[in-house]
This record gives sequence, structure tokens and C-alpha cells, in this order.
Amino acid sequence: MHQQLFEKVDQYITGLFVETDPCLAAIERSIIENDIPSISISPTQGKLLHLLAKLCHAKNILELGTLAGYSTVWMARALPENGHLLTLESNEKHAAVAKENFIRCGLADRITIKTGNAIETLPALVGSKAGPFDMIFIDADKPPYTAYFQWALQVSRPGTLIIADNVIREGKVLDTGDHDERVMGVRRFNDYLSQCKQVTATIFQTVGAKEHDGMAMAIVK
Ligand code: SAH
Ligand code: DHB
Ligand code: MG
Repeated sequence: MHQQLFEKVDQYITGLFVETDPCLAAIERSIIENDIPSISISPTQGKLLHLLAKLCHAKNILELGTLAGYSTVWMARALPENGHLLTLESNEKHAAVAKENFIRCGLADRITIKTGNAIETLPALVGSKAGPFDMIFIDADKPPYTAYFQWALQVSRPGTLIIADNVIREGKVLDTGDHDERVMGVRRFNDYLSQCKQVTATIFQTVGAKEHDGMAMAIVK
């Protein structure tokens, strides 16, 4: 209903606070040129993740779902010199394009991309005693969000910030009769998160360039 206004306001905020940037623009072009879905976070959401990474003084970040690396670069740019970001991606084409983008952005030494299904690469991470991560961004496929979150807890410490994208889905989460696997996946996750004793959490709604949605935010106790 107010989508046009939300988009205009998002452009207004972008104009004020999101500096134009050849590197991020190149990532956006790489998405179109390689026929990759246009489902990256928006510029204002990128700036928000960047601020959140700074706010928690993140030195070690984990991301689930790289796509072309747009969100990855926003977060990696908040890292200190010796900081590191590990991003998990199952699609080989997405991973290859993202890798090129990290090189192009001069961030190849700060970002590691692990190709494979996160439901398999996460247990391997725990097994190899990776982490603890200071910030974790969950943005891969939606049905296993609860499992992703449980694995995320395994590589967390008290104070770790966990953010999960797309948990409102234009309000479809309110409709318990909606049997879309993605909607059911995030609804199960939201219920789980609300009952999870290991974190203190909330969800904020997001509007703007992308459709109405929301991000869950949790801090490990
Ligand atoms: N975070 C990105 C967008 C991610 S889109 C950004 O905002 O820029 C979701 C990504 O998750 C896609 O690239 C998709 O290939 C990947 N994905 C889907 N299922 C996955 C799985 N099981 N394990 C790892 N990645 C997965
Ligand atoms: C989809 C995935 C996302 O992470 C997103 O932010 C928007 C859409 C999707 O799979 O359709
Ligand atoms: Mg997303």
C-alpha cells in the first residue's frame, strides 16, 4: 500500500547516508551480468549491518548465504585490519562471482568463502573449533533457519550478535495457514527464538527498496 513512499524514503536515506561506491556498484552489476537473483540486502540495510558490526567491535564475523557478496562486503568493511569474515554459500556460481567481487574490492585477505550446504559446513566448523564469532548473519535458505540458529549458538560466546534476515515476509508469518516452506521455516524460527533461554532477542520490521520484511536480532547471554 505504501510501498512507493517507503521506496522514496529509502532513496532519501540512501542519498544522505550511503555514499556511492564503485565497488558495491560493481557487485550489483555482477548480479545482473551473471543472471543471479536480485535478493541482496538493500544499501540502507547494508549500512545498518555495517554499523551493527562496528557497534559490537566485531573482529570475527560469520555469514550464511553469500550470493554475490553484497552484504559480505558491507560487514567486512567494518572489520579492523586483522579482522576476518567467513561466509558460507552452497551455489558454486554465486561463490565464484562473490570471490571475484572480494578480490575487486580488495577484501580477499579478510574474507573466506566456504562453498557447500551450510547444514553440512556448519557442523564441520563446530568440529574444527571455529569461532567464537562476534557477529553472525543468517541469510541462506529459509526452511532450516532454526537449525542454522542452533549451529550459530555453538560458535557463539556471551555477547555474540546474531541477525537473521527475512523473518516477516510481507506479514505472511501471521498466516498460520500459509504452507510456503519459507514462511513456515521462518515462523518456526521466530517461535523458537522467542522461547530460547540462551539469548535475548527481538524482531524489527524492514521497509524500503525491498518488500516489507523483518530481521531478527539476538544477543547471546
Ligand atoms: N546475504 C546476501 C544474500 C543471500 S541470498 C546479500 O544480502 O548480499 C541467499 C543465498 O543463500 C543464495 O546465494 C543461495 O545460493 C544461498 N543458499 C541457499 N541454500 C543454501 C545452503 N543450504 N547453504 C548455503 N547457502 C545456501
Ligand atoms: C530471498 C532470499 C533472501 O535472502 C532475501 O533477502 C529475499 C528473497 C529468496 O530466496 O527469494
Ligand atoms: Mg535475505
